[in-house]
Amino acid sequence: TTTPRTEEPPGALEDLLTVREFEARARRILDPVHYDYIAGGARDEVTVRANEAGFARLSLLPRVLGGTAERDSAVSILGTRASMPVLVSPTAFHRLVCAEGEIATGRAAARADTILIASMASTVAIREVAAAARAAATDRDPALWFQLYLQPDPQDTLALVRRAAAAGCTALVVTVDSPVLGVNERNVRNRFHDLPPGLACENLRNLRGDEPDTVRRIGMSPELNWDDVDRLRAHTKLPVLLKGVLHPEDARIAVDRGVDGLLLSNHGGRQLDTVPATIELLPEFAAVAGRKVPVLLDGGVRRGTDVVKALALGATAVGIGRPLVWGLAVAGEEGALRVLELLRAELDHTLALCGARGVKDLTPDLVRSAQAGA
Ligand code: FNR
Repeated sequence: TTTPRTEEPPGALEDLLTVREFEARARRILDPVHYDYIAGGARDEVTVRANEAGFARLSLLPRVLGGTAERDSAVSILGTRASMPVLVSPTAFHRLVCAEGEIATGRAAARADTILIASMASTVAIREVAAAARAAATDRDPALWFQLYLQPDPQDTLALVRRAAAAGCTALVVTVDSPVLGVNERNVRNRFHDLPPGLACENLRNLRGDEPDTVRRIGMSPELNWDDVDRLRAHTKLPVLLKGVLHPEDARIAVDRGVDGLLLSNHGGRQLDTVPATIELLPEFAAVAGRKVPVLLDGGVRRGTDVVKALALGATAVGIGRPLVWGLAVAGEEGALRVLELLRAELDHTLALCGARGVKDLTPDLVRSAQAGA
Protein backbone atom coordinates (compact mmCIF):
# COMPACT_ATOMS: atom_id res chain seq x y z
CA THR A 1 0.00 0.00 0.00
CA THR A 2 1.23 3.50 -0.75
CA THR A 3 0.82 6.62 1.30
CA PRO A 4 -2.67 7.94 1.99
CA ARG A 5 -2.27 11.48 0.73
CA THR A 6 -4.15 14.36 2.21
CA GLU A 7 -2.30 17.39 0.87
CA GLU A 8 -2.73 20.54 2.92
CA PRO A 9 -4.47 23.46 1.22
CA PRO A 10 -1.71 25.97 0.26
CA GLY A 11 -2.99 28.71 2.59
CA ALA A 12 -2.51 26.48 5.61
CA LEU A 13 1.23 26.38 4.92
CA GLU A 14 1.65 29.85 6.36
CA ASP A 15 0.38 28.56 9.68
CA LEU A 16 3.44 26.34 10.00
CA LEU A 17 6.07 28.57 11.55
CA THR A 18 8.84 26.14 12.44
CA VAL A 19 10.56 23.01 11.21
CA ARG A 20 9.21 21.18 14.26
CA GLU A 21 5.66 22.13 13.32
CA PHE A 22 6.30 20.67 9.87
CA GLU A 23 7.35 17.42 11.51
CA ALA A 24 4.20 17.35 13.67
CA ARG A 25 2.02 17.96 10.61
CA ALA A 26 3.87 15.33 8.57
CA ARG A 27 3.37 12.83 11.35
CA ARG A 28 -0.39 13.32 11.18
CA ILE A 29 -0.47 12.96 7.41
CA LEU A 30 1.95 10.11 6.71
CA ASP A 31 1.44 6.39 6.92
CA PRO A 32 2.93 5.64 10.39
CA VAL A 33 5.25 3.05 8.84
CA HIS A 34 6.74 5.67 6.55
CA TYR A 35 6.91 8.24 9.33
CA ASP A 36 8.92 5.76 11.42
CA TYR A 37 11.29 5.08 8.52
CA ILE A 38 12.06 8.80 8.21
CA ALA A 39 12.05 9.90 11.85
CA GLY A 40 13.74 6.82 13.24
CA GLY A 41 17.38 6.00 13.66
CA ALA A 42 19.66 3.18 14.65
CA ARG A 43 18.91 1.02 17.70
CA ASP A 44 18.14 3.13 20.82
CA GLU A 45 18.30 6.37 18.80
CA VAL A 46 20.77 7.85 21.27
CA THR A 47 22.55 9.69 18.46
CA VAL A 48 19.31 10.90 16.88
CA ARG A 49 18.54 12.73 20.13
CA ALA A 50 22.15 13.79 20.68
CA ASN A 51 22.28 15.72 17.40
CA GLU A 52 19.54 18.15 18.42
CA ALA A 53 20.62 18.22 22.09
CA GLY A 54 24.15 19.11 20.98
CA PHE A 55 22.92 22.39 19.51
CA ALA A 56 20.73 23.11 22.54
CA ARG A 57 23.73 22.79 24.85
CA LEU A 58 25.49 25.65 23.08
CA SER A 59 24.72 29.30 23.75
CA LEU A 60 25.20 32.26 21.42
CA LEU A 61 27.12 35.30 22.63
CA PRO A 62 26.21 38.18 20.31
CA ARG A 63 28.15 41.34 19.46
CA VAL A 64 26.41 44.74 19.52
CA LEU A 65 26.51 48.00 17.55
CA GLY A 66 28.00 46.39 14.46
CA GLY A 67 26.47 49.16 12.35
CA THR A 68 25.16 47.18 9.38
CA ALA A 69 21.66 46.83 8.00
CA GLU A 70 22.39 44.33 5.22
CA ARG A 71 23.57 40.79 5.75
CA ASP A 72 25.18 38.47 3.24
CA SER A 73 24.47 34.76 3.50
CA ALA A 74 25.74 33.56 0.11
CA VAL A 75 28.48 30.93 0.05
CA SER A 76 30.58 29.26 -2.61
CA ILE A 77 31.67 25.70 -1.97
CA LEU A 78 34.16 24.02 -4.31
CA GLY A 79 32.97 26.20 -7.14
CA THR A 80 29.24 25.78 -6.54
CA ARG A 81 27.39 28.89 -5.36
CA ALA A 82 24.44 28.86 -2.97
CA SER A 83 22.40 31.81 -1.77
CA MET A 84 22.61 30.51 1.78
CA PRO A 85 24.70 28.03 3.77
CA VAL A 86 21.77 25.64 4.22
CA LEU A 87 21.96 22.75 1.75
CA VAL A 88 19.72 19.77 1.14
CA SER A 89 21.44 16.63 2.43
CA PRO A 90 20.78 13.41 0.50
CA THR A 91 17.72 11.49 1.63
CA ALA A 92 16.26 8.46 -0.10
CA PHE A 93 12.82 7.62 -1.49
CA HIS A 94 11.01 10.95 -1.83
CA ARG A 95 8.12 9.38 -3.75
CA LEU A 96 7.26 7.61 -0.52
CA VAL A 97 6.01 10.92 0.87
CA CYS A 98 4.91 12.91 -2.19
CA ALA A 99 3.80 11.87 -5.65
CA GLU A 100 6.34 13.96 -7.58
CA GLY A 101 9.15 12.81 -5.33
CA GLU A 102 12.60 14.20 -6.13
CA ILE A 103 11.18 16.32 -8.97
CA ALA A 104 9.57 18.44 -6.26
CA THR A 105 12.80 18.47 -4.25
CA GLY A 106 14.84 19.56 -7.27
CA ARG A 107 12.48 22.43 -8.00
CA ALA A 108 12.31 23.56 -4.36
CA ALA A 109 16.10 23.62 -3.95
CA ALA A 110 16.49 25.46 -7.27
CA ARG A 111 13.88 28.06 -6.30
CA ALA A 112 15.59 28.51 -2.93
CA ASP A 113 18.86 28.90 -4.86
CA THR A 114 20.70 26.34 -2.76
CA ILE A 115 22.56 23.10 -3.34
CA LEU A 116 20.66 19.83 -3.60
CA ILE A 117 22.80 16.79 -2.83
CA ALA A 118 20.71 14.26 -4.70
CA SER A 119 20.67 10.77 -3.18
CA MET A 120 21.78 7.79 -5.19
CA ALA A 121 18.70 6.10 -3.69
CA SER A 122 16.36 8.49 -5.44
CA THR A 123 12.97 7.36 -6.73
CA VAL A 124 13.45 9.66 -9.75
CA ALA A 125 16.51 9.38 -12.03
CA ILE A 126 19.14 12.11 -11.57
CA ARG A 127 18.69 13.23 -15.20
CA GLU A 128 15.03 14.04 -14.55
CA VAL A 129 15.74 15.72 -11.22
CA ALA A 130 18.31 17.93 -12.97
CA ALA A 131 15.89 18.82 -15.77
CA ALA A 132 13.23 19.82 -13.25
CA ALA A 133 15.72 21.92 -11.28
CA ARG A 134 16.94 23.60 -14.47
CA ALA A 135 13.40 24.53 -15.47
CA ALA A 136 12.75 26.00 -12.01
CA ALA A 137 16.00 28.01 -11.85
CA THR A 138 15.36 30.10 -14.93
CA ASP A 139 18.17 32.66 -14.59
CA ARG A 140 21.03 30.40 -13.51
CA ASP A 141 22.34 26.83 -13.42
CA PRO A 142 20.78 24.88 -10.57
CA ALA A 143 23.24 23.79 -7.89
CA LEU A 144 23.22 20.01 -7.95
CA TRP A 145 25.58 17.50 -6.34
CA PHE A 146 25.30 13.71 -6.37
CA GLN A 147 25.65 11.38 -3.38
CA LEU A 148 26.74 7.83 -4.00
CA TYR A 149 27.93 4.69 -2.30
CA LEU A 150 30.93 2.99 -3.89
CA GLN A 151 29.63 -0.11 -5.63
CA PRO A 152 31.14 -3.62 -5.35
CA ASP A 153 31.94 -3.46 -9.09
CA PRO A 154 34.02 -0.31 -9.81
CA GLN A 155 32.48 -0.17 -13.30
CA ASP A 156 29.08 0.39 -11.69
CA THR A 157 30.47 3.23 -9.57
CA LEU A 158 31.87 4.84 -12.71
CA ALA A 159 28.55 4.38 -14.51
CA LEU A 160 26.83 6.26 -11.67
CA VAL A 161 29.44 9.02 -11.84
CA ARG A 162 28.92 9.34 -15.60
CA ARG A 163 25.15 9.60 -15.12
CA ALA A 164 25.64 12.30 -12.47
CA ALA A 165 28.14 14.26 -14.55
CA ALA A 166 25.95 14.03 -17.65
CA ALA A 167 23.05 15.42 -15.62
CA GLY A 168 25.16 18.46 -14.67
CA CYS A 169 26.12 17.59 -11.11
CA THR A 170 29.16 19.64 -10.03
CA ALA A 171 30.42 17.54 -7.09
CA LEU A 172 30.27 13.99 -5.77
CA VAL A 173 29.52 13.15 -2.15
CA VAL A 174 30.69 9.65 -1.28
CA THR A 175 28.99 8.26 1.82
CA VAL A 176 31.44 6.09 3.73
CA ASP A 177 29.63 5.33 6.99
CA SER A 178 27.62 2.41 5.66
CA PRO A 179 29.78 -0.72 5.17
CA VAL A 180 26.55 -2.36 6.33
CA LEU A 181 23.22 -0.64 6.81
CA GLY A 182 22.24 0.62 10.26
CA VAL A 183 19.29 -1.08 11.92
CA ASN A 184 16.22 1.05 12.53
CA GLU A 185 14.25 -1.27 14.80
CA ARG A 186 11.06 0.62 14.04
CA ASN A 187 11.36 -0.69 10.46
CA VAL A 188 11.94 -4.22 11.74
CA ARG A 189 8.88 -4.04 13.97
CA ASN A 190 6.81 -2.51 11.16
CA ARG A 191 8.13 -5.07 8.65
CA PHE A 192 9.18 -2.20 6.39
CA HIS A 193 11.88 -3.74 4.22
CA ASP A 194 11.11 -2.66 0.68
CA LEU A 195 9.76 0.14 -1.42
CA PRO A 196 6.08 -0.25 -2.30
CA PRO A 197 5.32 -1.61 -5.78
CA GLY A 198 5.82 1.02 -8.47
CA LEU A 199 8.70 2.78 -6.69
CA ALA A 200 12.36 1.97 -7.32
CA CYS A 201 15.86 3.39 -7.04
CA GLU A 202 15.86 4.80 -10.54
CA ASN A 203 19.58 5.64 -10.60
CA LEU A 204 20.40 1.97 -10.15
CA ARG A 205 18.57 0.82 -13.25
CA ASN A 206 20.46 -1.23 -15.86
CA LEU A 207 23.86 -1.43 -14.25
CA ARG A 208 26.49 -3.85 -15.52
CA GLY A 209 25.66 -7.52 -15.39
CA ASP A 210 22.00 -6.89 -14.60
CA GLU A 211 19.11 -8.08 -16.69
CA PRO A 212 17.53 -5.19 -18.62
CA ASP A 213 15.30 -3.08 -16.40
CA THR A 214 16.56 -4.56 -13.15
CA VAL A 215 16.90 -2.16 -10.29
CA ARG A 216 19.64 -2.92 -7.77
CA ARG A 217 19.21 -2.67 -4.06
CA ILE A 218 21.16 0.11 -2.39
CA GLY A 219 24.31 -0.64 -0.56
CA MET A 220 27.98 -0.09 -0.27
CA SER A 221 30.55 -2.81 -0.42
CA PRO A 222 32.02 -3.62 3.03
CA GLU A 223 35.45 -4.57 1.64
CA LEU A 224 36.17 -1.10 0.21
CA ASN A 225 39.12 0.94 1.46
CA TRP A 226 40.92 4.26 0.96
CA ASP A 227 42.44 3.09 -2.34
CA ASP A 228 38.95 2.80 -3.79
CA VAL A 229 38.36 6.48 -3.01
CA ASP A 230 41.66 7.33 -4.75
CA ARG A 231 40.58 5.30 -7.78
CA LEU A 232 37.29 7.16 -7.97
CA ARG A 233 39.09 10.51 -7.75
CA ALA A 234 41.43 9.46 -10.56
CA HIS A 235 38.43 8.82 -12.80
CA THR A 236 36.58 12.09 -12.40
CA LYS A 237 37.28 15.79 -12.66
CA LEU A 238 34.46 16.52 -10.21
CA PRO A 239 35.40 17.45 -6.64
CA VAL A 240 34.88 14.54 -4.24
CA LEU A 241 33.63 15.01 -0.68
CA LEU A 242 33.40 12.25 1.91
CA LYS A 243 30.24 12.04 4.01
CA GLY A 244 30.25 10.18 7.29
CA VAL A 245 33.86 10.45 8.46
CA LEU A 246 33.67 10.86 12.27
CA HIS A 247 37.11 10.04 13.66
CA PRO A 248 39.44 13.05 13.43
CA GLU A 249 42.25 10.71 12.38
CA ASP A 250 40.16 9.63 9.36
CA ALA A 251 39.52 13.30 8.59
CA ARG A 252 43.28 13.83 8.56
CA ILE A 253 43.81 10.82 6.26
CA ALA A 254 41.11 12.06 3.90
CA VAL A 255 42.70 15.49 3.63
CA ASP A 256 46.19 14.02 3.21
CA ARG A 257 44.91 11.83 0.38
CA GLY A 258 43.55 14.86 -1.39
CA VAL A 259 39.82 14.60 -0.80
CA ASP A 260 38.21 17.94 -1.70
CA GLY A 261 35.84 18.33 1.23
CA LEU A 262 34.17 16.65 4.20
CA LEU A 263 30.52 16.44 5.17
CA LEU A 264 30.65 15.77 8.90
CA SER A 265 27.61 13.57 9.38
CA ASN A 266 26.46 10.67 11.50
CA HIS A 267 23.74 9.92 8.96
CA GLY A 268 21.18 11.58 11.22
CA GLY A 269 21.82 8.86 13.82
CA ARG A 270 20.82 6.15 11.37
CA GLN A 271 24.05 4.15 11.15
CA LEU A 272 26.11 3.42 14.30
CA ASP A 273 24.17 4.37 17.43
CA THR A 274 25.88 6.23 20.29
CA VAL A 275 28.34 8.14 18.12
CA PRO A 276 28.66 11.80 19.16
CA ALA A 277 26.52 14.66 17.94
CA THR A 278 28.14 16.14 14.83
CA ILE A 279 28.21 19.64 16.35
CA GLU A 280 30.32 18.25 19.20
CA LEU A 281 32.93 16.94 16.75
CA LEU A 282 32.99 20.08 14.66
CA PRO A 283 35.70 22.08 16.50
CA GLU A 284 38.12 19.16 16.15
CA PHE A 285 37.25 18.74 12.47
CA ALA A 286 37.74 22.44 11.88
CA ALA A 287 41.19 22.17 13.45
CA VAL A 288 42.24 19.05 11.54
CA ALA A 289 40.73 19.78 8.13
CA GLY A 290 39.06 23.19 8.11
CA ARG A 291 42.00 25.22 6.88
CA LYS A 292 42.60 22.92 3.92
CA VAL A 293 39.15 21.86 2.71
CA PRO A 294 35.55 22.94 3.32
CA VAL A 295 33.89 21.14 6.22
CA LEU A 296 30.11 20.83 5.98
CA LEU A 297 27.92 19.44 8.75
CA ASP A 298 24.51 17.82 9.03
CA GLY A 299 22.44 16.25 11.82
CA GLY A 300 19.88 17.98 14.02
CA VAL A 301 19.77 21.36 12.28
CA ARG A 302 16.28 22.67 13.00
CA ARG A 303 16.72 26.43 13.61
CA GLY A 304 18.58 29.43 12.26
CA THR A 305 20.49 29.55 15.54
CA ASP A 306 21.77 26.00 14.82
CA VAL A 307 23.09 27.17 11.45
CA VAL A 308 24.89 30.11 13.06
CA LYS A 309 26.44 27.91 15.76
CA ALA A 310 27.79 25.47 13.16
CA LEU A 311 29.21 28.21 10.97
CA ALA A 312 30.77 29.97 13.95
CA LEU A 313 32.49 26.72 14.93
CA GLY A 314 33.99 26.31 11.47
CA ALA A 315 31.46 24.75 9.10
CA THR A 316 31.19 26.28 5.61
CA ALA A 317 27.55 25.23 5.40
CA VAL A 318 25.06 22.83 6.96
CA GLY A 319 22.71 20.26 5.45
CA ILE A 320 19.17 19.32 6.41
CA GLY A 321 17.81 15.79 6.02
CA ARG A 322 14.51 15.13 7.76
CA PRO A 323 13.25 18.76 7.73
CA LEU A 324 13.17 18.77 3.93
CA VAL A 325 11.30 15.45 3.88
CA TRP A 326 8.72 16.83 6.34
CA GLY A 327 8.21 19.77 3.98
CA LEU A 328 7.69 17.41 1.04
CA ALA A 329 5.28 15.28 3.02
CA VAL A 330 3.17 18.26 4.06
CA ALA A 331 2.92 20.03 0.71
CA GLY A 332 5.34 18.70 -1.93
CA GLU A 333 7.47 21.32 -3.67
CA GLU A 334 5.82 24.25 -1.87
CA GLY A 335 6.30 22.61 1.53
CA ALA A 336 9.96 21.84 0.88
CA LEU A 337 10.51 25.41 -0.32
CA ARG A 338 8.76 26.78 2.77
CA VAL A 339 11.09 24.78 5.07
CA LEU A 340 14.14 26.19 3.27
CA GLU A 341 12.76 29.74 3.39
CA LEU A 342 11.94 29.45 7.11
CA LEU A 343 15.53 28.50 7.80
CA ARG A 344 16.81 31.31 5.57
CA ALA A 345 14.71 33.87 7.45
CA GLU A 346 15.74 32.52 10.86
CA LEU A 347 19.39 32.52 9.82
CA ASP A 348 19.20 36.15 8.65
CA HIS A 349 17.41 37.20 11.82
CA THR A 350 20.01 35.44 13.97
CA LEU A 351 22.86 37.11 12.06
CA ALA A 352 21.23 40.49 12.72
CA LEU A 353 20.85 39.80 16.42
CA CYS A 354 24.46 38.60 16.58
CA GLY A 355 25.68 41.84 15.03
CA ALA A 356 27.13 39.98 12.06
CA ARG A 357 27.33 41.45 8.55
CA GLY A 358 27.20 38.02 7.07
CA VAL A 359 28.11 34.41 7.46
CA LYS A 360 31.80 35.24 6.98
CA ASP A 361 31.76 37.27 10.22
CA LEU A 362 30.93 34.25 12.35
CA THR A 363 33.77 33.21 14.66
CA PRO A 364 34.06 30.65 17.49
CA ASP A 365 33.94 33.32 20.22
CA LEU A 366 30.21 33.77 19.45
CA VAL A 367 29.50 30.29 20.86
CA ARG A 368 29.71 29.19 24.47
CA SER A 369 29.05 25.82 25.98
CA ALA A 370 25.97 26.41 28.13
CA GLN A 371 27.34 24.15 30.86
CA ALA A 372 30.70 25.88 31.13
CA GLY A 373 29.17 29.14 32.30
CA ALA A 374 26.51 27.53 34.49
C1 FNR B 1 19.04 9.79 5.07
N1 FNR B 1 20.42 10.00 4.93
C2 FNR B 1 21.05 9.54 3.79
N2 FNR B 1 22.39 9.76 3.60
C3 FNR B 1 23.02 9.35 2.47
O1 FNR B 1 24.22 9.58 2.33
N3 FNR B 1 22.31 8.70 1.49
C4 FNR B 1 20.98 8.44 1.60
O2 FNR B 1 20.38 7.87 0.70
C5 FNR B 1 20.31 8.84 2.80
N4 FNR B 1 19.00 8.56 2.99
C6 FNR B 1 18.33 9.05 4.10
C7 FNR B 1 16.96 8.83 4.22
C8 FNR B 1 16.28 9.40 5.30
C9 FNR B 1 14.80 9.19 5.40
C10 FNR B 1 16.97 10.16 6.27
C11 FNR B 1 16.26 10.80 7.43
C12 FNR B 1 18.34 10.33 6.16
C13 FNR B 1 21.17 10.82 5.91
C14 FNR B 1 21.10 12.30 5.54
O3 FNR B 1 21.88 12.59 4.41
C15 FNR B 1 21.61 13.22 6.65
O4 FNR B 1 22.92 12.83 7.01
C16 FNR B 1 20.75 13.24 7.91
O5 FNR B 1 19.38 13.12 7.60
C17 FNR B 1 20.98 14.55 8.65
O6 FNR B 1 20.29 14.59 9.86
P1 FNR B 1 18.86 15.33 10.03
O7 FNR B 1 18.91 16.66 9.33
O8 FNR B 1 17.84 14.41 9.46
O9 FNR B 1 18.77 15.46 11.52
